[in-house]
Amino acid sequence: MANVPLDFLGDLRRTHTCGQLRASDDGARVTLMGWVHRRRDLGGVFFIHLRDRDGVTQLVFRSDGASEAHAKAEMLGPEYVIAVQGLVEKRSEATVNATIPTGEVEVVVEKLWILNDSRTPPFPMEETVDVKEDARLKYRFVDLRRPHMQRNILLRSNISLAVRQALYEQGFLEIETPFLTRSTPEGARDFLVPSRVSRGSFYALPQSPQLFKQLLMVSGFEKYFQIVRCFRDEDLRADRQPEFTQIDIEMSFPQQERIFEVVEPLVQRACGEAGFHIPAPFPRLTYDEAMRLYGIDKPDMRIPPFRVLEGDFSSLGLRFQPVAIHVPSTGALSRKERDELKAFGQERGLRIYDDLKKLDAALVDAAKKATSASDNDLLLLAGWPGEPEGQRPEHTFLQACGQLRLFAAQKYNDRHKLLDARDFRFLWVLNFPMFEWDDEEHRWVAAHHPFTSVLDEDIDKLTSDPAACRAKSYDLVLNGVELGSGSIRIHRRDVQSKVFSALGFSEDEARRRFGFLLDALEYGAPPHGGIALGLDRLVMILAGETSIREVIPFPKTAKGTDLMCEAPSTVPERQLRELGLRLTE
Ligand code: AMO
Repeated sequence: MANVPLDFLGDLRRTHTCGQLRASDDGARVTLMGWVHRRRDLGGVFFIHLRDRDGVTQLVFRSDGASEAHAKAEMLGPEYVIAVQGLVEKRSEATVNATIPTGEVEVVVEKLWILNDSRTPPFPMEETVDVKEDARLKYRFVDLRRPHMQRNILLRSNISLAVRQALYEQGFLEIETPFLTRSTPEGARDFLVPSRVSRGSFYALPQSPQLFKQLLMVSGFEKYFQIVRCFRDEDLRADRQPEFTQIDIEMSFPQQERIFEVVEPLVQRACGEAGFHIPAPFPRLTYDEAMRLYGIDKPDMRIPPFRVLEGDFSSLGLRFQPVAIHVPSTGALSRKERDELKAFGQERGLRIYDDLKKLDAALVDAAKKATSASDNDLLLLAGWPGEPEGQRPEHTFLQACGQLRLFAAQKYNDRHKLLDARDFRFLWVLNFPMFEWDDEEHRWVAAHHPFTSVLDEDIDKLTSDPAACRAKSYDLVLNGVELGSGSIRIHRRDVQSKVFSALGFSEDEARRRFGFLLDALEYGAPPHGGIALGLDRLVMILAGETSIREVIPFPKTAKGTDLMCEAPSTVPERQLRELGLRLTE
């Protein structure tokens, strides 16, 4: 680094931020502080864009009158931290910079303090510059200065505040729950923390505060929320991180409807923070309807549903009624594109009828009528020629159709803008199956979690026909992303025991794992229910991003590492010994 003499801040105070000054401030004497964003030298006059969180202001260093500041300014490099005092001057019409809010003025600097110098940043601050993600994550403290990251983190903070306000206004209390706790079953692996005091014992970091929030209902707090970090050791994707944040909500005496009345205005307010007005109530589909129309439990409602055709198509020799998949305004696809779609479907077990001319007229008619597809649209017919698979064989077929529908729409999106990122389609999906069959464990597992109530009309089928049991559960879906998930809980000990036994837990095992919950259910547990929304996912979509890493200040890579502080890391042998641990390889 250059050998620059540095100044102390002393009792210098900012009078304005770098985003505040306007033409009406003309003539004011101001003090600004921030980072050197850009510097231009024009015939002995230096122009510097000074940046802080709030914006950018142009500084002018003239050699006449303030020669000391001018001489010091010569030493400034990118990202140096400075303070300046000077006079606001209105710019001439010809030099107004309409691209920044302070563009009508500049500050003619009289005094300059260099508060810190900076090494040349690893990448430029401009958002137009594409930087490799590894470099961004290693120098995250610099990356976070870039305008789009500043915007995203600000939006996140505003959304958190809006959510808090909405919930406080509705009488919810913000209550903290432990991080060092026991395993909570949410379907992922736990992160374990060894105990030094109780050697050989481990805490688990919470996958969610599920059990604690239920206990808080038993304790009479009635309306709880928490914006809370959760930890899950699972394979990472663009919308998954090992630690992520939930807006976690629980209330006593609710029906499902009551939960929706809490969540919808909250989500509307969050969207408002991003400048979007969202209509409510949100549409609803049952899980069965979602599967029959979209082949997925988190349908992207911007793409039209497919249609299971009605009529006698037995001559096709298919296992189920054929499905018509429709994607609007794709124009004619090339042979290569059609082959690609066909291959995608075939890999998933589908038989694809893509050349309508070769098909029976009745079938084509039925497909066109069911979908109202026009000649400019893509219309594919899909059938399932194979043997049934899995516990819900028709779902295997419908899921494959759903994947093809999504693939086709995403592939040809550019042409018709079907998947507009600013078109927000919220949806409630209700009444999921209570259980899913686990092929590895050869038993039913809870589709949501084992504390979810079964629909009243299915309660007698808990042991006789688990596959047919539907849950009082609901997901909030936005544009094909699962934003939140919740349920009405089991509040009676006898029903909880039945569900544990349907899940194949012996009474002993249930006691060992969840004894405290079972005890609590015996001490006047009220009917209760709730939901958790993924804050990272909500902010991601509202910020127009496609990865939650763009809205998390210090995220992990896809391999779960923090490139900046190099975590996880090895620890000294002594630390392992204290914990009673030894590495085996
Ligand atoms: P669930 O497991 O469905 O439900 O989680 C709720 C929401 O949290 C978000 N989410 C994640 N976000 C980022 N990275 C992850 N690894 C990740 N995992 C989950 C999703 C999801 O919809 N206790 C229940 C809620 C309840 O029943 O009240 C629960 O945790 O947006």
